[in-house]
Amino acid sequence: MAFRRFLLLLFFFISAAGEPTSDRAALLAFLSQTPHSPRIQWKASASACDWVGVSCDANRTAVVALRLPAAGLIGPIPPGTLGRLSSLRILSLRSNRLSGSPPQDLSNLTVLHSLYLQNNLFSGAFPPAIPKLTRLTRLDLSANNFSSEIPFAVNNLTRLTGLFLQQNRFSGSLPSVGIPGLTSFNVSYNDLNGSIPATLAKFPASDFVGNLQLCGGPLAPCAPFFPSPSPSPIPPPESPTGKSSKNLSTKAIIGIAVAGGVVLLLLLLLLLFCCLSARRKQSQRAKGGTKPVEAAAGPIGRSADVGTTSSSKEDIAAATASQGDKNRLVFVGSGGGYSFDLEDLLRASAEVLGKGSVGTSYKAVLEEGTTVVVKRLKDVAVSKRDFELNIEALGKIEHGNLLAIRAYYYSKDEKLLVFDYLAAGSLSSNLHGSRGSGRTPLDWDNRMRIALAAGRGLAHLHGPARVVHGNIKASNVLLRPDPDAAALSDYGLAPIFGPSGSTVSRAAVGYRAPEVVETRRATFKSDVYSFGVLLLELLTGKAPNQASIAGEEGVDLPRWVQSVVREEWTAEVFDVELMRYANIEEEMVQLLQIAMACVALVPDSRPDMAEVVRMMEDIAGGRLGTSEGDDGLRASSDEPSKPASGGRSPRVASTP
Ligand SMILES: *[C@@H]1O[C@H](CO)[C@@H](O)[C@H](O)[C@H]1NC(C)=O
Ligand SMILES: *[C@@H]1O[C@H](CO)[C@@H](O)[C@H](O)[C@H]1NC(C)=O
Ligand SMILES: *[C@@H]1O[C@H](CO)[C@@H](O)[C@H](O)[C@H]1NC(C)=O
Ligand SMILES: *[C@@H]1O[C@H](CO)[C@@H](O)[C@H](O)[C@H]1NC(C)=O
Ligand SMILES: *[C@@H]1O[C@H](CO)[C@@H](O)[C@H](O)[C@H]1NC(C)=O
Ligand SMILES: *[C@@H]1O[C@H](CO)[C@@H](O)[C@H](O)[C@H]1NC(C)=O
Repeated sequence: MAFRRFLLLLFFFISAAGEPTSDRAALLAFLSQTPHSPRIQWKASASACDWVGVSCDANRTAVVALRLPAAGLIGPIPPGTLGRLSSLRILSLRSNRLSGSPPQDLSNLTVLHSLYLQNNLFSGAFPPAIPKLTRLTRLDLSANNFSSEIPFAVNNLTRLTGLFLQQNRFSGSLPSVGIPGLTSFNVSYNDLNGSIPATLAKFPASDFVGNLQLCGGPLAPCAPFFPSPSPSPIPPPESPTGKSSKNLSTKAIIGIAVAGGVVLLLLLLLLLFCCLSARRKQSQRAKGGTKPVEAAAGPIGRSADVGTTSSSKEDIAAATASQGDKNRLVFVGSGGGYSFDLEDLLRASAEVLGKGSVGTSYKAVLEEGTTVVVKRLKDVAVSKRDFELNIEALGKIEHGNLLAIRAYYYSKDEKLLVFDYLAAGSLSSNLHGSRGSGRTPLDWDNRMRIALAAGRGLAHLHGPARVVHGNIKASNVLLRPDPDAAALSDYGLAPIFGPSGSTVSRAAVGYRAPEVVETRRATFKSDVYSFGVLLLELLTGKAPNQASIAGEEGVDLPRWVQSVVREEWTAEVFDVELMRYANIEEEMVQLLQIAMACVALVPDSRPDMAEVVRMMEDIAGGRLGTSEGDDGLRASSDEPSKPASGGRSPRVASTP
């Protein structure tokens, strides 16, 4: 009885002096279950705050740091011990012989900012508790025996400045880690493969060495199956032609002149080439040769008689005639009601619209006034027959919110696709072009309509057409004067670009679903992810991974939004340009929720497009209507002949 009273007194005494009672129990439970060096003697008579390796806060009411480096600790960390130190900010257990998986209850250490577990024998998967420790700034798991993939969820650790995973057996490909403040990073000496994501390419090669199958970025380029990730999308050219100012500066005029010159040169080369191949064909025929024209056509530069080739109309006529049915412009689907041939196209005046992942786009104005977009595809890797089958199939897809392929041309050295030209430009140029310079911003109603139009186009691709888009981004959403008739372009082209690896490099950084990096295949669900990013872009006014233009580091848009929303600053995510419109918060928050569902990390938990469209239609309560704007399809072909309002030059309308 007396003894018990004494204990009670002692207890009161200790608590009065400030003793982290529950933390003390947790520490004792840890040490009693973990073999350790005799150096670590935690005396029951002393306050836990004075024990070796333990630090408390100023009030001595909680343990804030536990440092037991090289303390001879052996075996697994027992569950229900360290996970109870709820105020712990620093945990260092480096250079011991701890093994197994760090326990799941470490996820309770919600204020932990430094975790040092390097030089142990930990094994198994990347500890699932760690992505929940969102306050972490330093994480060191190096020199252990971890062996899973590095999860994309490390992006959850938005405050991380140092991430050290070297000397383990981590495998699979590197996720795109896009943590803005990350300044130290090391994954050397693991079993990683695949390409280094663009977000990590800034770190030196010594951070990646010792992974035999890793490539790209600072290491050797990936080939042939793992092309290095394409550079982040080129920003919409900031040429003054896209701006609403009516007075062109001298700079602009020089720019236009130079561009025009380059285009002229290119067209001349194209012309020369055609004439050449025609001549060879003719001479072959004379010799009775039966070689197909594709094989006969050689690169322009190799030919000795380039200088003697004239580019007169007779020659072109001879060229097209001799090529017969073999190398002509082939119209697909409805053909858009166009009637011109390759000759007309070659004679057209052309202007470069942009260089994109599939090739360079030109705006071509034919002599009779029709304007079309011609894309010169690069790196086509399929046979003529497969190319034709693919393009013919895509040409059959007709929907008001999809930009149809009108015609194609295939020869050995030149592959062209012809599309309608939409003078209003792309969503990207309208959303991001010349911000803050007195331009009329896209208002909420227009954004909502464009989003819905793009959604309907994609739902049609996924539904009746069964085609994966594979390259959804704001520069592939082309606008018409009627926002309900906005159209998606560049869909379904992945199959003609050969190795599946290139699907990844072609899909725009920032829109690419995390799993695509690993599977290297775009799917319906990865399209939904990209569409979600597009919605976030409309809501935030921020271009995914283009923040670098402004000198900042690229930001993963979904993650940025997640982090802001999590901190309950929801209002902060929205585009300031939208703040001037009244009574739209509710719709914006609803669209934000749909977008967040689309960018779920797990593909299966993303809704499908039909569902997304239904939810978007519900937002506006039928305000936006549910009919499909098929009329836009026909209207578009003569649209280019109407000058853009105010006589300003057309905007860039292509893949940047
Ligand atoms: C320490 O005590 C002071 C006043 O006694 C209090 O304001 C402060 O919040 C306490 N700090 C912690 C970490 O408990
Ligand atoms: C700690 O984590 C475990 C399992 O991870 C959970 O059951 C428990 O409720 C958590 N405790 C606290 C105090 O959060
Ligand atoms: C990311 O962090 C949040 C807590 O902020 C957590 O709820 C979520 O589970 C974490 N995600 C993963 C994949 O661990
Ligand atoms: C690492 O783990 C593997 C099994 O996963 C085991 O065979 C190997 O011995 C471990 N290496 C060390 C150094 O513990
Ligand atoms: C990369 O590693 C993962 C896991 O080890 C494996 O499944 C995948 O096939 C590897 N890819 C290549 C191209 O080696
Ligand atoms: C990354 O870790 C490896 C192995 O520990 C080391 O050799 C390399 O220097 C480290 N890289 C940097 C940049 O410190």
